[in-house]
Amino acid sequence: MESATKWIHSLLFFTFTFASLYLLDTFIISSRLSTDYQNIKLKKKPQLPLHFRSDGTFKILQVADMHYGNGMLTRCRDVLESEFNCCTDLNTTQFLRKIIEIEKPDLIVFTGDNIFGRSATDAAESMFEVFAPAIDSGIPWAAVLGNHDQESIMNREELMSFISLMDYSVSQTFPSTKVTSDPAEQQPMTDIDGFGNYNLEVWGAPGSYLSNSSILNLYFLDSGDRAIVDGVRTYNWIRESQLSWLRGVSKRFQGQWKFADQSVEIPLLPVMHPPALAFFHIPIPEIRQGPIKDIVGTYREYVACSSVNSGVLKTFISMGDVKAVFIGHDHNNDYCGNIKGIWFCYGGGFGYHGYGVAGWPRRARVIQAELGKGKEAWIDVEKIRTWKRLDDGVLTKFDEQVLWDIHTLR
Ligand SMILES: *[C@@H]1O[C@H](CO)[C@@H](O)[C@H](O)[C@H]1NC(C)=O
Ligand SMILES: *[C@@H]1O[C@H](CO)[C@@H](O)[C@H](O)[C@H]1NC(C)=O
Repeated sequence: MESATKWIHSLLFFTFTFASLYLLDTFIISSRLSTDYQNIKLKKKPQLPLHFRSDGTFKILQVADMHYGNGMLTRCRDVLESEFNCCTDLNTTQFLRKIIEIEKPDLIVFTGDNIFGRSATDAAESMFEVFAPAIDSGIPWAAVLGNHDQESIMNREELMSFISLMDYSVSQTFPSTKVTSDPAEQQPMTDIDGFGNYNLEVWGAPGSYLSNSSILNLYFLDSGDRAIVDGVRTYNWIRESQLSWLRGVSKRFQGQWKFADQSVEIPLLPVMHPPALAFFHIPIPEIRQGPIKDIVGTYREYVACSSVNSGVLKTFISMGDVKAVFIGHDHNNDYCGNIKGIWFCYGGGFGYHGYGVAGWPRRARVIQAELGKGKEAWIDVEKIRTWKRLDDGVLTKFDEQVLWDIHTLR
């Protein structure tokens, strides 16, 4: 009897001690070792793959040459005398917020010179400011580098890694070897020139035959920064390793559409090769040489490109799927022009710290792909359209044009 009482006392004592230590740890010690548990941040992952909307459209906002410095401490270049005193990088941010708000794109693409390295004391801080409007919108965004991004304190590889880890970013430093939606299975392909070569798939509209297939492919390339050729300074160029990777990606998409129901007849399929769009920063030499046909927009600046022609246009022509290419670099050109069947479109200068023309508003480009309608549901891409908007107070929309229409191909 007595030993049973002792035993119960021991058990109670043990339980009490254990409970006290547990409560002490939970409510006092743990909470003191971590200051604010709610504020722990993981990368906010965008939904991948990208998809057309159920209204049959997919819209991309191209932002070229934001040229960001130190935010509110960095002044605007080439604005009117009357505008100079109250104009900083914050005006660039404000323009981005407004254009995202009015266009509500499905993807935002930054085509390089996102920061102007020489004016950005801390590259990472400037990048947080550059991409903040995209991140706040929760819209997936992709970026490539220009020739000025690495002129601060981060090199090109560091910049791309940083960019790819930011919230809602779908950017990649290296392309992946495998096409799979499971990121754990993807291996980065590091034996390729540059940082920021990758591709994104855009799948069909939900509930359509092509909802599980890529029907619009987006190619991103690193066009580098500077180079010296035969002792002469020039811009860098897209290398053969990049083009060879791209040819492989493009080939993979040829005839790859999968339908749950094999008997389905898709009426609009003259080529089983989905259209593609390419994005990079520095123009290719053919844009300088011409001839360029059907120019829509302004051509007011000499094309600044590399003296080396590495065969980018030839590669695009042989691939067959690239319908339009979107570039930046020359802020005072905002035109689209056709070279041998492929459109080359400038975004036009976006950022206020980048050079421009006073009184000629900063601008941005929008690209919209539209699906054709089958008997019951959306099918593949029927049309690719583009237009621009000005930062003129009312975001004037102008220069709308069709870049590609499946019906005119027959
Ligand atoms: C820059 O932003 C300020 C504050 O919103 C505004 O007053 C000014 O007009 C803007 N300047 C330009 C050139 O857009
Ligand atoms: C797409 O994939 C989903 C999930 O795997 C499946 O339920 C659906 O039937 C597929 N749709 C088509 C059109 O292949």
